[in-house]
Amino acid sequence: MPVTALYPGTFDPPTNGHIDLIQRGAKIFDHLTVAVLMNPVKDPLFTVEERVEMLKEVTAAIGNVSVATFDGLMVEFARQQGASAVLRGIRAISDYEHEFQMALMNRRLAPEVETVFLQPAGRYSFVSSRMVKEVFSFGGDITGLIPPNVLKRLRARIGNS
Ligand SMILES: Nc1ncnc2c1ncn2[C@@H]1O[C@H](COP(=O)(O)OP(=O)(O)O)[C@@H](O)[C@H]1O
Ligand SMILES: [Mg+2]
Repeated sequence: MPVTALYPGTFDPPTNGHIDLIQRGAKIFDHLTVAVLMNPVKDPLFTVEERVEMLKEVTAAIGNVSVATFDGLMVEFARQQGASAVLRGIRAISDYEHEFQMALMNRRLAPEVETVFLQPAGRYSFVSSRMVKEVFSFGGDITGLIPPNVLKRLRARIGNS
């Protein structure tokens, strides 16, 4: 049976770490749906629509990847999508505790959905959307950490080099 996985997140904005994970996920699952959480609490830099556009641009060449949005319970959306797996990234041990809690809560809510953790390439293991925004806003060089289309939008949004 073909396995669809959901890769949920905030993606504000997508980084090369996210893309690395999408590429790895696309290789092991038949279909991967990148799902942008519509979470008004997080006060994002980019709108959900902008984040979806950026993700579509960077995944356009990968045939078995699609991009969607969701709100509410992630596992409910996974069920709606027919996804039997949820992909999450672990950059460092510090990610693990929170991810582990979420995975077990999600298993309790939807025992049929398995959480799968993947590690990015080492060169992306320190990259987060938050750090990218912070360093960029102070004029630091973030070349190679985000795709060109995201850099363009960051420049337009926060100005800078
Ligand atoms: N550089 C990276 N390498 C690998 N995984 C990452 C990286 N940055 C984020 N992730 C993973 O991608 C997923 C989505 O992250 P994020 O966009 O921050 O949304 P969330 O609000 O769910 O943490 C999480 O599982 C996170 O651990
Ligand atoms: Mg995060």
